[in-house]
Amino acid sequence: MTILKIARMGHPVLRRRAEPVPDPSAPEIHRLVLDMIETMEDAPGIGLAAPQVHIPLRLVIFRVPAERLGPGEEGEAQALTALCNPVIEPLGPDTEPGWEGCLSVPGLRGVVERWTHIRYSGLGLDGRRIEREARGMHARVVQHECDHLDGILYPQRMRDLTKLVFESEMRHMVPDARVREDVE
Ligand code: NI
Repeated sequence: MTILKIARMGHPVLRRRAEPVPDPSAPEIHRLVLDMIETMEDAPGIGLAAPQVHIPLRLVIFRVPAERLGPGEEGEAQALTALCNPVIEPLGPDTEPGWEGCLSVPGLRGVVERWTHIRYSGLGLDGRRIEREARGMHARVVQHECDHLDGILYPQRMRDLTKLVFESEMRHMVPDARVREDVE
């Protein structure tokens, strides 16, 4: 396995629409996912989209660690998932703000409004369909990663750029927040 170079904001691969994965069970897709997992864990992060490693395909990986979940989200922990050609559908009108970071926007954190409750679907690496409902942090990570497939970085989703800050200054914004190491 190989740690891949992560594209940073400004690189054109992060701005284009990624192409569908023709065959999720192809050996080269498995190899790519193994390299993406190693890259994500090295960073460290909790999600990574293929365009972030200069591969313009509709493929994301993510995990939702139990320790990242807020009150009432206990059921939302997710083991590492690889998802090809994902589709997201909001379930209900509610959105909620939350802090995000991105491995392609190193050193920064920002408050982004996301759908609270979604359904997402796509193909796993065995070619089988995955369909899940998600809330809270789980829903947020999936929305963040899938935005990468459409050339969208989280600052483009922000409504209030006064809440775009360096992570070293987060304590001024959220005095009691523990510093989160994980970014997407
Ligand atoms: Ni990201």
